[in-house]
Amino acid sequence: MELTRLRGFRDLIGADARAMSLVEERARALVERYSMKEIRIPVLERTQLYQRSTGETSDIVEKQMYTFTDRDEGETVVALRPEGTPGVVRAYIEAGLDRTEPEQRLFYSGAMFRRERPQKGRYRQFFQFGVEIFGRPDAACDAEILIMIDELCRDLKVPFTVEINSIGCQKCRPNFRGALVQWGRAHWEELCDDCHNRIDRNPLRLLDCKIDAKLTESAPKSLDYLCDECRTHFDTVKELLSAGKVQFVVNPRMVRGLDYYTRTAFEVMAGGLGAQSTVVAGGRYDGLVETMGGAAVAGIGFAIGVDRMALAIQAAGMAPSAAPDAAIIAMGPAATRHAIVVARNLREANLNVEMLSPQRKMKTLLARAAKIGARVAVIIGDDEVARGVVQIRDLKQSTQREVAVAEAARAIADARGE
Ligand code: HAM
Repeated sequence: MELTRLRGFRDLIGADARAMSLVEERARALVERYSMKEIRIPVLERTQLYQRSTGETSDIVEKQMYTFTDRDEGETVVALRPEGTPGVVRAYIEAGLDRTEPEQRLFYSGAMFRRERPQKGRYRQFFQFGVEIFGRPDAACDAEILIMIDELCRDLKVPFTVEINSIGCQKCRPNFRGALVQWGRAHWEELCDDCHNRIDRNPLRLLDCKIDAKLTESAPKSLDYLCDECRTHFDTVKELLSAGKVQFVVNPRMVRGLDYYTRTAFEVMAGGLGAQSTVVAGGRYDGLVETMGGAAVAGIGFAIGVDRMALAIQAAGMAPSAAPDAAIIAMGPAATRHAIVVARNLREANLNVEMLSPQRKMKTLLARAAKIGARVAVIIGDDEVARGVVQIRDLKQSTQREVAVAEAARAIADARGE
């Protein structure tokens, strides 16, 4: 085949797609318990939006965006969204909410695009389910955001760890930056080429270096440079997290790869995923709305990596089975007519039912029923039609019994173990 899919772009069929939908469904149910409103934003935005928010020196903007010039928009350079936060902030300001109703609790869901090197858990098109809360600078909001994530991971039965850090604010961050630059210069000989570039362009990223991981243990830590307000804020977040029964680890080396963060930053890792184990990430971004031309409104949020969370539930063996409860086998035209009605009734009783083709032989149909993982086969022939019964064959136990049509739903649910 010549016209194959692009590298890093996935087709998700059956169980893999089902696991993704499950994550999205549970996330949606979660945000509804937290009084949040949905926001839908475009997939395409001006490239400048990301340059100004995600950051000129972030890997995303420097290397990973899919951009092109749109002839219809006066030769504007546009980009497929690499993340949701900038678009949500833009939409929030554009709707005038920063002035009219600054306190907003929003969620979104959809595809994001980054030209990264593909590997397990890292794709060029991936899905995020994100949450952004505006107008809440208080530490209670940070704690609630993390409680929310804790609730989701527990609901999905994924083993996870929460790491948090505070990277300070516009006031105290320059001191930390300065200390990192100084440290970087002092260790110039030992640093990799990437880090040599980072020293002046984005010194916080020195702490992200995989090559120099050992060396960065001696680097300055953001927590040692926090101003009094940031320290109190972080202490309160930790205290409230303990009150809310969230287990967490403080990781003083976590800085996040996007430029807009202030104060609390966090990452949630799940087991069984290998190198790409961060399933949820986010943090506070108190200066971003103002930087983007809006009022001085605080912001905080996170995004669930839906693809990775789906892999995590599959690794934990928690993905639900999509196998039908029953496969219906009808022998002959009269039985088929009857089977259509039986199938409909069973589905109305909330059972997952696949009606098999009436044009095949019994042996083929039983093989098909087993192949699709049906728990039982419901067999209907002319004799069953005449007597108002069906044969229910338990495909795991190879037993068969006759029940009245009205009893069929109950018998199938019983076989399923209810
Ligand atoms: P991020 O850390 O760039 O943050 O991405 C959030 C999550 O999206 C990651 O932890 C990961 O699970 C998933 N993800 C990122 N890139 C990929 C990829 N190439 N393939 C698969 N999954 C991926 C943000 O995007 C921020 N907008 C989060 C946020 C919202 N901060 C505040 N509000």
